[in-house]
Amino acid sequence: MKTHLSLDEMNTMREAGKVVSAFFRSLKNKIAPGLTTKDIEKEFDSFLLGFEGMEPAFKGYMGYPASVCASVNEEVIHGIPSDKKIIKQGDLVSIDLGIKYRGLFVDSAYTYMIGKVSDEAKKLSEVTLASLNEAIKHVKIGACVGDIGCAVQRFVEKNGFAVIRSFVGHGIGNNLHQPPEVPNFGKEGQGPVLEEGQVIAIEPMVVAGTYKVKVLSDGWTVVTADNALSAHFEHTVAVTKKGAWIITE
Ligand code: MF3
Ligand code: CO
Repeated sequence: MKTHLSLDEMNTMREAGKVVSAFFRSLKNKIAPGLTTKDIEKEFDSFLLGFEGMEPAFKGYMGYPASVCASVNEEVIHGIPSDKKIIKQGDLVSIDLGIKYRGLFVDSAYTYMIGKVSDEAKKLSEVTLASLNEAIKHVKIGACVGDIGCAVQRFVEKNGFAVIRSFVGHGIGNNLHQPPEVPNFGKEGQGPVLEEGQVIAIEPMVVAGTYKVKVLSDGWTVVTADNALSAHFEHTVAVTKKGAWIITE
């Protein structure tokens, strides 16, 4: 499997990454109480129609039935959009989505606070985003994957939260998921060494309780076992001579 990309390929991914980022920005002004998670999927599908050659990456992936994941409150990841799931004031809504463009993938996630949320929800969301930014600081040629996981874990635990163990970030490029695995925990100096041309999806999944999770009977939705709140942010990040290039920024 090809794990190293050319600058041309990265530039192609960046085109899709800009679209992802523009969608997340546009959703900020739209996501509100009363919308369903299905409405968000519809927004994404129609947004993508404006971009020739870009397709939702998740739809049909391993049989996943939708083009976005929408995970609310105690749902950690892989929430299937539903017209029965109505977003309400105080919710934490994590939207995860990807685009396939000219045979290349990008993947990103953002957690929205709906109206006024609890202090805990606000802190959880802020800490999760900040942990992603901490991790990105470690992305450079010669760094280890463990440096990234360690940065996330240290920041999250210092703030009293926990990182999910059973799902991890990943390499990305001609496949949505490819080596290496990029855990949100680990030790400095351990794991695969990052090389020029690799692209990784870093995606802290952070919970306000314990990191134990279970999968609902729909076969997809991952929820916290203790029903505690969860947040999720993700960027696709390229390893270049100049350092980290955030493809989905
Ligand atoms: N963004 C998810 C991940 O980060 C991918 C979702 S898998 C799907 O790796 F099956 F839901 F598409
Ligand atoms: Co991902």
